[in-house]
Amino acid sequence: MSVDRKNKPAPIPSSPSLAQPIVDLTDNVLNARLPSGDSVTVHLYGATVTSWKTSNGKEQLFLSSAAALDGSKPIRGGIPLVFPVFGPPPATHATGKLPQHGFARNSFWEFLGKSSSESLGRKADDSVKLDFGLSSDFLADEVKAKWPYAFGLVYSVTLSKGKLETQLHVQNKGDQPFEFHALFHTYLAVKDIHKTTVSGLESASYVDKMRSAQTFTEESSNLGFTGETDRVYTPPTGKDKSALPVVVKEDGQESFVVNRDALPDVTVWNGWVDKIKGMGDFEPKDGWLRYLCIEPGTVNSWTKLEAGDAWQGGVTWESKL
Ligand code: BG6
Repeated sequence: MSVDRKNKPAPIPSSPSLAQPIVDLTDNVLNARLPSGDSVTVHLYGATVTSWKTSNGKEQLFLSSAAALDGSKPIRGGIPLVFPVFGPPPATHATGKLPQHGFARNSFWEFLGKSSSESLGRKADDSVKLDFGLSSDFLADEVKAKWPYAFGLVYSVTLSKGKLETQLHVQNKGDQPFEFHALFHTYLAVKDIHKTTVSGLESASYVDKMRSAQTFTEESSNLGFTGETDRVYTPPTGKDKSALPVVVKEDGQESFVVNRDALPDVTVWNGWVDKIKGMGDFEPKDGWLRYLCIEPGTVNSWTKLEAGDAWQGGVTWESKL
């Protein structure tokens, strides 16, 4: 029987503002988790985001179960970073000796630290920003020899409820200009590629690597997938020259909204059955059904950075399901 006491002590308030994001770096793998349950995992190898889960526990990124996670080759899945060249480098360009997609995705990055949401002007516990750095000083000698420019990269990954922001800052620290491409090679997890569509590309010109790299104009307002797809789109911009969102839908329902800043191009890639069959680090072999690469970047033309100059571009990935 409960006794009704006059001066009953008040329950100890559980202050939600005391909850803080948890950030842990162990064995070159960084895990961050918000009190909301949203989480992100970043491997220092390539500063590759390998997992992004929303508070309902749903994994938003596809990661191959055969991905090399030991630093022996770029990680197959998640968000590999492409810099300073996208695709096979043109032999006559300064990047000509580098491997496909450059060296950022297969170099070890440094964890520079986290910023709490308070310093980002948000509520204490609702976001965390993780900064990673790579500079020419830390590059392996054989890579430096192939691309001898002095540069500094800062990659910021900001996790908030239902959202992930990825932002790359490039600085030319040398005394001569260099040209680069940059791209976020994002493997979005989808339930079934046959039921997945993309909107926001209508009227965009695109280079179709499946059709001799010829240029076409996208007619569909809701692009579907029926075979291997490998295209670089340059979508039209809005009235104020800002990028319009690219929206991924599954079964007609919005699942990802992708907003770009200073990234004019979007690669759309799915290797389908045969290409994936030939990729040793892509498992399971029917995994092509469950991913779609949406890769915002600046890759259709070179961005030139003069000595001392800096460039910044980024993406906000919003999960709707
Ligand atoms: C995409 C390219 O960005 O990456 C494709 O458009 C390429 O052509 C794909 O096949 C995967 O590249 P990689 O180097 O990771 O096997």
